[in-house]
Amino acid sequence: MNEMTPIAPSPEDLEKCLVIGPEAYVSKDYALAERDRLWRKVWLQAGRVEDLPTVGDFITYAILDDSVIVMRTSPDGLRAYHNVCPHRGRRLIDTPPGQRNARGSRRSIICGYHGWSFDLEGRNIYIEYQDDWQGCLTAERTGLGAVQVDTWGGWIWINLDPDAGSLNEYLSPAASLLEPYQLHNMRPRWRRWLEFGCNWKVAMEAFAETYHVSTTHPEFNVFAKFRGWARNQGLHSNIGYEAPKGLEEDAGKLRVGGGDDPRLSTEEMQLFTWENANTNTTRTMVEAAKRLKTELPPGTPAAEVSRHWIKSAREDDARRGVIWPDVAPEHTAKAGTAWQIFPNFQIGHAVNNMLCYQARPVSVDEPERCIFEAAVYELYPAGEEPATEWEYTEPSAWPPVLQQDFANMAAVQAGMKNIGFRGAQPNPYMERSIASLHMNLARFIGMGAPQPPEQ
Ligand code: FES
Ligand SMILES: [Fe+2]
Repeated sequence: MNEMTPIAPSPEDLEKCLVIGPEAYVSKDYALAERDRLWRKVWLQAGRVEDLPTVGDFITYAILDDSVIVMRTSPDGLRAYHNVCPHRGRRLIDTPPGQRNARGSRRSIICGYHGWSFDLEGRNIYIEYQDDWQGCLTAERTGLGAVQVDTWGGWIWINLDPDAGSLNEYLSPAASLLEPYQLHNMRPRWRRWLEFGCNWKVAMEAFAETYHVSTTHPEFNVFAKFRGWARNQGLHSNIGYEAPKGLEEDAGKLRVGGGDDPRLSTEEMQLFTWENANTNTTRTMVEAAKRLKTELPPGTPAAEVSRHWIKSAREDDARRGVIWPDVAPEHTAKAGTAWQIFPNFQIGHAVNNMLCYQARPVSVDEPERCIFEAAVYELYPAGEEPATEWEYTEPSAWPPVLQQDFANMAAVQAGMKNIGFRGAQPNPYMERSIASLHMNLARFIGMGAPQPPEQ
């Protein structure tokens, strides 16, 4: 970086060349600043509402040194507490070894050290030999510390900052642009996580742009190649494909009709995606794609194949009680195919399924490690939702397409420390989401702002 005062980029600057220094990905100082100025200030996605169906159900969520208990306290009420005993600081609910988080159901929380106990509302209900404190233990000093909690999209969101603004305000404009997709109705098909040897941002950025697809996932090139865009959306960003004219719904993402016979290439693409990524599609869509060659004559144009395929899959699902929301093509063009929710959550949305990623740091002393997780959701007939748990999954057991991304994550983390690396130069059009992330991070953290290249 040059010696001039660093610029604080604005959203307009994201459309030009910017360079991101490697400090944000490797420095312990930066990781510590993130803990204090980022993770303790922002709204974080901490779990799904459906994981807490009954009063007393709880989950924990950990971010660096902080752990939070989210508790269902009434049929439509959730509360969140700092997962720490006000007596001498024991973590109240331990995460079982090898688990992503603790999950269970309690009528009260009892500290395992000296037995202080708390009701679901976080009030202290038992202290042995309380008189020994000679009356100085107030309800405030003996109850659990409250953490802000709210819900949107079927997720539970927490904020460690008692003075933070509302979740609704924070998620703008992502929440309103995603509202037509009714994401709260989707349920997970699978959920996997692992600890990975890269900074959490390297992990998120591996999925926050479409520029890498043709090189990292060359198998998809035979189906078609569409150009992808990325837009700044305030704190957040979104990405999408420039779908060819005449294709509807999520055609840009689904990339039908690249081959000579769009009936067959749609089927091949669907089978490939189902088997090698297990994301971005559903069994209904795969089955409907397999029927295209018998339902449509040879020579049917790509746009017609796409329309027929989506329509018949929609009807198949409707027959089993799975109703896709209607989203106008003009809206799809604005909403794109995935949102990067600041700072560490990505929602890859569609009308009938979604693919979400999250990455979190593990320790301020280890900026080159993160917890990475992915979950695939879809719409199910009421009562037929599968019961899924977060499964720890070694890299070699993830779907092959994700392993291709993992290979980049490890190699990028290694390359960034190379003395010869001069900083990342994201594509100002296709990778604007990455510059947008660092612009916003710099506003919270006070360092690491993307800079124009030195001349
Ligand atoms: S630390 Fe919890 S009761 Fe003592
Ligand atoms: Fe990828």
